[in-house]
Amino acid sequence: MEMQNQKKKSILSGIQPTGVFTLGNYLGAVKNWAPMQDEFDCAYMIADLHAITVRQDPKQFREQILSCYALLLSCGIDPQKSIVFIQSQNPDHAQLGWVLDCYTQFGELSRMTQFKDKSAKHPENINAGLFTYPSLMAADILLYQADLVPVGADQTQHLEITRTIAGRFNGIYGNTFKLPEGYIPKAGAKIMSLAEPTKKMSKSDENPNACILILDDKDKVVKKFKRAVTDSEMEVRYGEGKDGINNLMTIYSAVTGKTMDEITSEFAGKGYGDFKSAVGEAVADHLRPIREEYARLMADKAYLESCYRQGAEQAQRISRRTLSKVMKKIGFIL
Ligand code: TYM
Repeated sequence: MEMQNQKKKSILSGIQPTGVFTLGNYLGAVKNWAPMQDEFDCAYMIADLHAITVRQDPKQFREQILSCYALLLSCGIDPQKSIVFIQSQNPDHAQLGWVLDCYTQFGELSRMTQFKDKSAKHPENINAGLFTYPSLMAADILLYQADLVPVGADQTQHLEITRTIAGRFNGIYGNTFKLPEGYIPKAGAKIMSLAEPTKKMSKSDENPNACILILDDKDKVVKKFKRAVTDSEMEVRYGEGKDGINNLMTIYSAVTGKTMDEITSEFAGKGYGDFKSAVGEAVADHLRPIREEYARLMADKAYLESCYRQGAEQAQRISRRTLSKVMKKIGFIL
């Protein structure tokens, strides 16, 4: 048994607790986490340290950390199978983050598109944390010697810099970190806004119809899909210039398992109205059990606390090994 466990590949991924997960977060990342639990040694975390690169209201932030933790469990992440923890409750992340800052180049961080986008969006608060965000994310991953990191397509640049940092450190001190690979889903890696289908679906979108939140009830989900922007054709077919329809087909495919061809024939001769209703219904039905499980878990705060306390301990047991190795190699007195 022990031997078998040692051979399993390890997984680490995380999500920021900046609000209810969007359908993008879910289809691009979280939905794929639960099925990995049997095959791999998984650690999943609420990336609360990352979230303070943007100003957070303390009361709301505290509530969101807990509710996002409950959401992870509602999406099928099982604390009996995986390590499920809150990043700030394991101080090793902040510590390795600082160390890795010193092995990350200013030029590399300057080229990060997320930094450029976020600093354009919040010109009043371009803080140093926003700039060094990728070194902290590298620390998250490298502490657990993760083989695979299941994320959406928008995180590929962060994975590349993680490999660069790990490779640089290994080059100086000898083999210390495993170089992780991204694990990006074929369908759903980039879910687009329902209102502007050339833009990524995002929690921070001001238009509430642009974004499905995974706790939206059926009525809301169906309404938002009905308003989704499409094109002036009538054909449900995946193709160039059909960003809105492509996005809806991707979403429909991700929740029903149907291929693009199957979807096209299912809606042959029908209008966009029928298609949009079908997507709305399918998504709402898919999300219903998550919403129910979430309500159940949020009524049991004691259980949630026992899970995240245990998760933090389990996480640190693993991360401590990597951190000690790193500190020793650099020359710190342990
Ligand atoms: P975050 O919180 O922005 O997003 C969480 C996950 O959701 C994916 N995602 C999407 N996928 C498809 N379509 C979309 N529209 C969409 N929007 C978001 C993201 O790719 C991500 O996988 N930096 C990370 C959090 C993090 C992390 C880590 C991830 C911190 N440390 C270590 C992996 C490993 C972030 O901000 O994700």
